[in-house]
Amino acid sequence: MDVLIEVVVSGAAGRLGRRLCAHVYQAPDLALMGALVRAGGAGEGALVASLAPELAGCAGVATADLGVISAGRVVLEVSPPAAALTHLEQAIEVGAPVVLATTGFEAGHQARIEAAAQRIPVLLAPNLSLGVAVLIDLARRAAAALPGYHLEILELHHAKKRDAPSGTAWALGRAVAEARGQDLERDAICARAGDVGPRGQDEIGLQSIRGGDIIGEHTVYLVGPTERLELTHRAASRDLFAAGGVAAARFLGQPGRAPGLYGMRDVAG
Ligand SMILES: NC(=O)c1ccc[n+]([C@@H]2O[C@H](COP(=O)([O-])OP(=O)(O)OC[C@H]3O[C@@H](n4cnc5c(N)ncnc54)[C@H](OP(=O)(O)O)[C@@H]3O)[C@@H](O)[C@H]2O)c1
Repeated sequence: MDVLIEVVVSGAAGRLGRRLCAHVYQAPDLALMGALVRAGGAGEGALVASLAPELAGCAGVATADLGVISAGRVVLEVSPPAAALTHLEQAIEVGAPVVLATTGFEAGHQARIEAAAQRIPVLLAPNLSLGVAVLIDLARRAAAALPGYHLEILELHHAKKRDAPSGTAWALGRAVAEARGQDLERDAICARAGDVGPRGQDEIGLQSIRGGDIIGEHTVYLVGPTERLELTHRAASRDLFAAGGVAAARFLGQPGRAPGLYGMRDVAG
């Protein structure tokens, strides 16, 4: 019989965390070993079974005890950045692989994530969708194939999203910047207002719309003098991300998975 991959969902009481718990619980080759929540938060001590309808019959309570992150257990991380980094330290301490699906990390956090990846397997997934992994690849190729075309990225999300532009918009920006040999930190323009003057040739625009319950949409525009190419991905259900989380946990939990920094591109093959 195949070995079960043990998984802990961190941020388990949140919108995405609940769906991840449900999908992990239902996956025959994964075992939901823990639901990590914020100490003192409404989720602490809640029955795991209460987090999603599919979890009826699942034993245990949601916990704030970091001890639930133990050797070999894959952590599916969707708590806020500061908490996620604390959990990453615990994962290094015990030797647990981590799928970092949280977004909103600051530029300075990247070094900590890369240092962690030298000691444990880390899968950095600002978007767990396999379709978005393909979108990033297409955007990279289009940016290289149409060198003079202006690049703009538009993302739409629900009203409660905290960070902007989205982690996926940044990932798209990095991909197109790399394809053109540009520096995203220098060339990104995240908002325009007032007398901003003509658009710079190398600008990479990242624009954000927030409203209602939009799960997530991203479009990369490549605008030339006589034509415009638009590459769009639309998420239709949060279960898309949960399914990607299961695929990522399966990938990272393979016996013998070496330390390193992985992405959904590796999962998608
Ligand atoms: N990679 C992807 O594909 C993808 C897709 C969608 C969303 N996301 C990202 O995933 C994250 C969560 O999104 P969401 O919509 O689920 O947000 P959410 O509903 O606000 O969930 C976040 C959860 O984290 C909990 N939390 C806070 N501190 C914690 C701690 N120390 N330990 C454990 N849990 C803690 C929060 O609890 P309290 O409410 O008690 O504070 C909350 O339940 C965001 O960064 C979002 O951008 C990623």
